[in-house]
Amino acid sequence: MDFSRTLQHWYAHFGRTLPWRGIDNPYHIWLSEIILQQTRVEQGRAYYERFTQLFPTVSELAAATEQEVLTAWQGLGYYSRARNLHKAAKLIAASGKFPADYASLRALPGVGDYTAAAVASLAYGLPCAVVDGNVYRVLSRFYGINTPIDTTAGKREFKALADELLDCKNSAAHNQALMDFGAMVCTPRSPKCAECPLHDGCAMVADACNPESYPFKARTTKVCVRHFTYVFVRFDGKILLHRRGAGDIWEGLYEPMLFESDKPMDFSNLQQILCDRLAVKPQKTVFNRIATELRHQLTHRLILAEAYTAMLADAPKVLPEDCLWVEIDELHKYPIPRLVERLWKFAQN
Ligand code: ADE
Repeated sequence: MDFSRTLQHWYAHFGRTLPWRGIDNPYHIWLSEIILQQTRVEQGRAYYERFTQLFPTVSELAAATEQEVLTAWQGLGYYSRARNLHKAAKLIAASGKFPADYASLRALPGVGDYTAAAVASLAYGLPCAVVDGNVYRVLSRFYGINTPIDTTAGKREFKALADELLDCKNSAAHNQALMDFGAMVCTPRSPKCAECPLHDGCAMVADACNPESYPFKARTTKVCVRHFTYVFVRFDGKILLHRRGAGDIWEGLYEPMLFESDKPMDFSNLQQILCDRLAVKPQKTVFNRIATELRHQLTHRLILAEAYTAMLADAPKVLPEDCLWVEIDELHKYPIPRLVERLWKFAQN
């Protein structure tokens, strides 16, 4: 049996049953793909249910406020994806119909080659091969390809191979099979070679290679460390929130007062700066440290976070820029980064 037929045969027996499968609603399929770029299938399922319940149609998503969309997305990270999703929904709603070919899907904000091919094949049965992390892994191992995937040559080579292997008449089943196979059998670590239906033709077996070293990458990304000190300023049942601006992570999300520094911040220094900013008296403000050196990993960054609560005795005379007071029981209406969610749990204890 050839590569695609073997995989489709495997998929028919072992493929996962997922809420965005066996449907042809392009909006729901697009939603699932955007969510799945950000998280694993198990967690993605809950977000998919949430989005389809809150916004059953693309027009309803288009009509939502940015804050509602970001709140529904909360916890997935990489919030520009949610903003692009919203932007694209507005364009689709305004145009009156969902794009139905590769080029018009690809033209939507936040839709790259992968997502356009996924929606085109899964919703419309168009002959478009997907190339995602699973596909790179499976193809590089099966064919023993050493070309690094983060180079133009590598991208071109894998794309050409993926196109060649595609079962054009069954593009949806082919693509889903390849992705499930990558997620369930040909996994990044400890692939299940003993039970693999492609075992006999696999280059890793023939050449006695270690599949875990595939695919190859030219560069290893450098992780940059940032030091964040958060202060949950509280007064009269309210908490002071700051809305993050453009040009950095978490645009448009809310957080407590943040002090960023190139090394962990000295407490007395922090106390002084905070009280100056709010024009309150340090001796009338009760600080409590609630977290130190909390590690929060993002794609290219490690944040080392420290956090305090600060109880004010009197209303501050100054409201810092882009800040607002929010009732504690209204906090759930504001999209906050996952790190702040983690810290907020400590602040409540
Ligand atoms: N990852 C991203 N999209 C997927 C899909 N449709 N099926 C399985 N895994 C996926």
